[in-house]
Amino acid sequence: MLKIQGGNALRGSVQVSGAKNAALPIMAACLAVPGKTVLHNLPELRDITSMSDLLGQLGMSVTRTGTGQLILEPSRSRQLMADSVADYELVRKMRASVCVLGPLLASRGEAFVSLPGGCNIGHRPIDLHLKGLAALGAEIEIRNGYVIAKATKLTGTRIFLGGAMGSTVTGTCNILTAATLATGRTIIESAACEPEVVDLGNFLIACGAKIEGLGTPCITIDGVEQLQPVEYEIIPDRIEAATWLIATAVTRGDVTIENVIPEHLSAFLDKLTQLGVQCQINSHSIRVAGVTEIQAGDIVALAYPGIPTDIQAQLTAMLCLANGMSVVTDRVFPERFMYASELVRMGAKIRREANSVIIQGVDQLNGASVMASDLRASAALVIAALAAEGETTIRRIYHLDRGYEKLAEKLSALGADVQRLQDPHSPVVSSLPGPHWQQAGIREPK
Ligand code: EPU
Repeated sequence: MLKIQGGNALRGSVQVSGAKNAALPIMAACLAVPGKTVLHNLPELRDITSMSDLLGQLGMSVTRTGTGQLILEPSRSRQLMADSVADYELVRKMRASVCVLGPLLASRGEAFVSLPGGCNIGHRPIDLHLKGLAALGAEIEIRNGYVIAKATKLTGTRIFLGGAMGSTVTGTCNILTAATLATGRTIIESAACEPEVVDLGNFLIACGAKIEGLGTPCITIDGVEQLQPVEYEIIPDRIEAATWLIATAVTRGDVTIENVIPEHLSAFLDKLTQLGVQCQINSHSIRVAGVTEIQAGDIVALAYPGIPTDIQAQLTAMLCLANGMSVVTDRVFPERFMYASELVRMGAKIRREANSVIIQGVDQLNGASVMASDLRASAALVIAALAAEGETTIRRIYHLDRGYEKLAEKLSALGADVQRLQDPHSPVVSSLPGPHWQQAGIREPK
């Protein structure tokens, strides 16, 4: 539980950590890289620990060797390797576990990955991941809640990966990694262009993969026999950077956000300027200062290079304090507004309308007891609490630990009045396999 006494302007500088959503598929891709891969700039987060646990269950050795550094190495002996099972207990807590599907299939010819199921940010199918892998030649079956994928050989082909909601980030990651070891050429059309996908692609290229078109909707991959281990540094987290920019703006603070790639935030920075938040953009840092009034405005969250859905909730929190009426629409996850009722408990005026919220700005939010429903919802509540009058307690902040490294410490260093207390609702994360993978006919790990 976080207890925040609102009203302190954030001041100073803050270092952005490595990008969780780049790190997770890159860690998963290490399943397909024989030998020791060394990754740098990894954030210390629960999702990174969960991915390390999962890779450990899949027979990899994962060693933390220093701040932000991991060494990952597949087991030398296939005999000692656990079966290729990503269990429901882990997948339901961290959907990015699905990123092991492509690398497992490409390197071992089989993968048993639990279907993730429901999610607080809306419907999240993986049909496009499965379509792409099937196009590469995998036989896929859904049994007892598991995806059972097998392939003696993957063969390159042309794959259209767009769906009703546009491109898929982790779906592109799965197909991209699998295709690097397929025979022949794969062309992914309607590929996700997010910087995290580009980072995975750059990692794979460093490992010897032949990939062109990263960052565009058409990626071409020429399969290679084998990947080589490398040392690789993960990009900074653009969503964390954006969260700091918004937190500084709502508290009328003066903060320099360090370790940023500003080009990854172009659409967002452009919108911030329109909303009255002036940023001084340097090559690797952004300073925000001197905000007097937040202007109302309309925002649409879209796939990259649009404004990310992962900043939608934080922007909504900011617009609760704008000088008029704003509309925020999410075209990626149309249901991602569960946090809005909690903001209303803090005095916000928000009305939900289909895949949008309509916000009438208020002069002041008030501290209240609120509950976080997902990672970015938690960040939105922290932003509202920092700006609010009085004390806010935010429960279920274990979501924050999944995606923001040392958030309370970083906030305190910037002058916020934040205390972290024992959360009575915090669950214990179990990474032990549940019974259903056995029912699904998957062999017990050796
Ligand atoms: N979709 C399908 N079929 C699929 C896959 C996706 O219809 O097979 C739909 C989804 O339901 C959604 C849209 O396509 O409407 C985009 O989903 P996408 O697959 O791109 O999302 P994801 O890969 O599951 C990643 C991030 C999310 C981020 C989204 C969108 C990781 C580990 N997760 O999820 O990050 O919101 O892309 O940018 O990279 C977060 O960090 O808080 C987070 C949720």
